[in-house]
Amino acid sequence: MALLITNQGQSICLAFLLVLILAFCSSQASCSRQLYGEEKNMFQRFEEWMTKHGRVYKDAQEKELRYDIFKSNVEFIEAFNKNKDGRKYTLSINKFADRKNEELRAMRNGYNVRQHLSKEVITSNSMKVSPNTFFKYANVTVVPLSWDWTTSAVTPVKDQGYDCGSCWAFATVAVVEGLNSIMTGNLLSLSEQEIIDCTTSFEDDGCHGGFVEKAFEYMIQRNMSLSTEDGYPYKAVDGGVCLDDFNNNVASGAITITGYKQVPQNNEIALLLAVANQPVSVYIDAEAEEFKHYSGGVYTGPCGTNLTHAVTIVGYDTTEDDEKYWLIKNSWGEEWGEGGYMRIQRDFDANEGLCGIAMGAFYPTV
Ligand SMILES: *[C@@H]1O[C@H](CO)[C@@H](O)[C@H](O)[C@H]1NC(C)=O
Ligand SMILES: *[C@@H]1O[C@H](CO)[C@@H](O)[C@H](O)[C@H]1NC(C)=O
Ligand SMILES: *[C@@H]1O[C@H](CO)[C@@H](O)[C@H](O)[C@H]1NC(C)=O
Repeated sequence: MALLITNQGQSICLAFLLVLILAFCSSQASCSRQLYGEEKNMFQRFEEWMTKHGRVYKDAQEKELRYDIFKSNVEFIEAFNKNKDGRKYTLSINKFADRKNEELRAMRNGYNVRQHLSKEVITSNSMKVSPNTFFKYANVTVVPLSWDWTTSAVTPVKDQGYDCGSCWAFATVAVVEGLNSIMTGNLLSLSEQEIIDCTTSFEDDGCHGGFVEKAFEYMIQRNMSLSTEDGYPYKAVDGGVCLDDFNNNVASGAITITGYKQVPQNNEIALLLAVANQPVSVYIDAEAEEFKHYSGGVYTGPCGTNLTHAVTIVGYDTTEDDEKYWLIKNSWGEEWGEGGYMRIQRDFDANEGLCGIAMGAFYPTV
């Protein structure tokens, strides 16, 4: 989980809002009364939203603070939807509406995925497990025009929670669930909590962030299937004891991965070849406000290449308007996006893909 325009971006945004409000006031004689009415309406919406999302704040001060954030998020969302400037996706007021972007950047703490990726390329020859270079799907010449793993190899959308930056564990487990389903015909939901609890010696840091590759390395060393979701349920906290010797939790009949590979970097064709064959974990830049509030359509940015989030590519297609997209499964619950999924622009002008989606893509092997 990770998001946000920089503080500077935010103050620009606030200044912009202020200008809008002032412009509105100077053109309206009954300004103060009007604003009062809108404010009241907004507060009512906030309370309805609180009820819908079961939100309770510890005191009036906290509630006021959350209200201010809610209000500014709602204004941002409504302004975007009113003036999309050619963009074909929409935003909505979802469960993140009372949070500032920087509160949702759990995965960033201390992790620079780009630095990590470049380090990995250099050290890949000395890595114990599977050098990254061999691309299994290099010789694939024909792929379908569109593909959708959600009908066969994808479990229901999960929710990592607000305060645990465990997106990397979800992005790892989803591709293992996918490969398992493809190979065994059995769609099993597997355990993110096992990954969180058991990979601390693999440079992963639970709710503070981690790496898909390190989670694969744990599984390879463990040399056994992951536990099932039910056997080792998600708690959205880290620091727990690793319970991987409770073998009765292990998903029976599920695959044991023996390696993992990186899709050749900055190459959306290579990514297509891989996704046509199995779901793929990717790091992306999900820091924009628009990403956080996305509710449908093909996302076309804004975003950079700050790879602070991880998701799973589970398909691809082209819209009737000829917009090519990747279908990504997120771990922010079903309320976000299109039932928990996002369609995001494919075959972007820059090699790294939109939001850096082609920079760090990984798939497990058996
Ligand atoms: C692709 O084909 C070439 C030539 O036959 C072969 O050397 C290479 O190993 C193949 N690559 C893969 C990934 O199968
Ligand atoms: C993994 O487990 C299998 C079956 O128990 C065993 O045959 C194999 O040697 C093990 N592999 C490693 C790398 O430990
Ligand atoms: C990317 O993330 C880093 C670490 O959080 C932050 O310092 C930097 O400002 C971000 N860059 C952009 C362009 O947002």
